[in-house]
Amino acid sequence: MNVRILDQRTPEERDRPFLPGAGKTWLLPFYDVFSRAAGGRALHERAVELAGVEPGQSVVDVGCGTGNLSLAVLAAQPAARVTGLDPDADALRRAARKARRRGVDLTLTQGYADRIPAQDDSLDHVVSSLALHHLDDDGRSAFARDALRALRPGGVVTIADFGGPSSDAEDGDHHAHGHGHGRVFAHALRHLPWIKRSRAAHSPVMSRDHGDGVIALLAEAGFDDAREVAHAELRFGRVAFVQATRPLN
Ligand SMILES: C[S@@+](CC[C@H](N)C(=O)[O-])C[C@H]1O[C@@H](n2cnc3c(N)ncnc32)[C@H](O)[C@@H]1O
Repeated sequence: MNVRILDQRTPEERDRPFLPGAGKTWLLPFYDVFSRAAGGRALHERAVELAGVEPGQSVVDVGCGTGNLSLAVLAAQPAARVTGLDPDADALRRAARKARRRGVDLTLTQGYADRIPAQDDSLDHVVSSLALHHLDDDGRSAFARDALRALRPGGVVTIADFGGPSSDAEDGDHHAHGHGHGRVFAHALRHLPWIKRSRAAHSPVMSRDHGDGVIALLAEAGFDDAREVAHAELRFGRVAFVQATRPLN
């Protein structure tokens, strides 16, 4: 078993702000409880099923947080080579503990979505769940360009995030489904007023829906055949599964 955490941040990136998984750093210990209550496990399993990772393939999970999607990849395909990427050191430590408990190999890299830890043309898969809405528009475009750089020709990007044709980018909160923990999580995750007052709110990043913008984002970056391949209604809203392929030449 080999679980390690690497810090690939440059000195300038050490102060770079980001929006943490549950909106506030102190909510992190509750993230996995909320995620499970809101149907997160099914979402991760569906994303993995759609990605179709094969033995020996290399996968980077962008915005991996506490490692749920990375670990779902490894549960389905133990022979995959998986790296989780996230700026949140505390979340990465939780991911590492979970990986050790499960006895799987996992590399965790502290860094940002616009610098995927992989050489050019090297990855078979880039996957990401519930993370792109934590990036601003420039950050999401930079992510898409870097995913294209890092994937091999024919490599596949699979993204699960809020949005899709029926979502309302401005009114997502008013239409949030469900109740109880899921609803609380939805608010914590997305638009609670105190999140807006937080440091993150004064940074260039803010939690957001992005409608069907992920498809346009991937197409603009140069991916082939960007499309919504499935969707799910979670307690905190509609989640679209979007997939695209790096052109062969
Ligand atoms: C809602 S959590 C999702 C975590 C995990 N993917 C899951 O499905 O449970 C969003 C994650 O995005 C991360 N994040 C925020 N800004 C980021 C950035 N610029 N680059 C990469 N990840 C980022 C947060 O630290 C957080 O862990």
